[in-house]
Amino acid sequence: MIKRLLFYVKRYSKYIYYPFWIIYKIKNIQLLQKEVKRSDSGKKSEFAENKEEIIRKVLFQKNSKSFLEIGIGQFPNLERIKLIAKNKIKYTGLDFKSVCENHKQELELKGLKSPNIRYLSNEVGTYSWTLFKILKKKQKFDLIYLDGHHTFYIDLPAFILAHFLLKPSGYLLIDDVNWTLEFLRKNLSKNYLDWYFYHKMYNFSEYDENQQKIPHMKMIIKNLLIPKLKYSEIKKFRTVDFMVFKKKDYL
Ligand SMILES: C[S@@+](CC[C@H](N)C(=O)[O-])C[C@H]1O[C@@H](n2cnc3c(N)ncnc32)[C@H](O)[C@@H]1O
Repeated sequence: MIKRLLFYVKRYSKYIYYPFWIIYKIKNIQLLQKEVKRSDSGKKSEFAENKEEIIRKVLFQKNSKSFLEIGIGQFPNLERIKLIAKNKIKYTGLDFKSVCENHKQELELKGLKSPNIRYLSNEVGTYSWTLFKILKKKQKFDLIYLDGHHTFYIDLPAFILAHFLLKPSGYLLIDDVNWTLEFLRKNLSKNYLDWYFYHKMYNFSEYDENQQKIPHMKMIIKNLLIPKLKYSEIKKFRTVDFMVFKKKDYL
């Protein structure tokens, strides 16, 4: 009896997700989604606005012509995409295949498709594989925005590869520098959309309790990016969670 019950629970448990999937899809094509400025932890905040302004400043004041975004998020930032298209900046966005497909669909719906905008995806694993492929093709970028998984095992290779993909004097933008797995564990279930999007992406058992309390991005910045790779921070662009770095001109 119990065996049979377990069999049916296992068999039909996937359908529990369906209502979430439908709402997620509807929101994703922006039938319901208003263009809210949100930080990546899901909070609507003044900092999210600041971050967006800073990205625009680094893109346009510094005359960046190529922009690589590692981790593109649930919804495309349409204002940013419009500016990128208008200024003929070559944009590359990296994420899971399903996420990239959503962005592509939405750009098409909004008439924002452009030959200068491309999405490169990974079906499994991480964007590091894609970064490595780009590196092999000898492509380089003026600006790289690393805003993906925010964890050590996934983002340490991403940091290293981003370093080699960035042009000398290029800009490296890092988001969620204070984010921790502990924060995610405590907050994930508060927003059903975020839960739907992220719940399969994180395996908490890969990190012990102490490691879950540490902000991995900040740890890599403090111990590798600044002292070993010699990046300098542009302090006027710092917000509570977001930092901008400049690569040395000789590297
Ligand atoms: C915080 S969001 C990015 C937000 C976006 N940069 C923005 O400004 O709106 C993080 C993104 O990283 C992606 N990501 C996390 N782990 C990944 C992996 N292993 N492979 C590919 N993409 C991943 C997620 O799918 C998500 O879209």
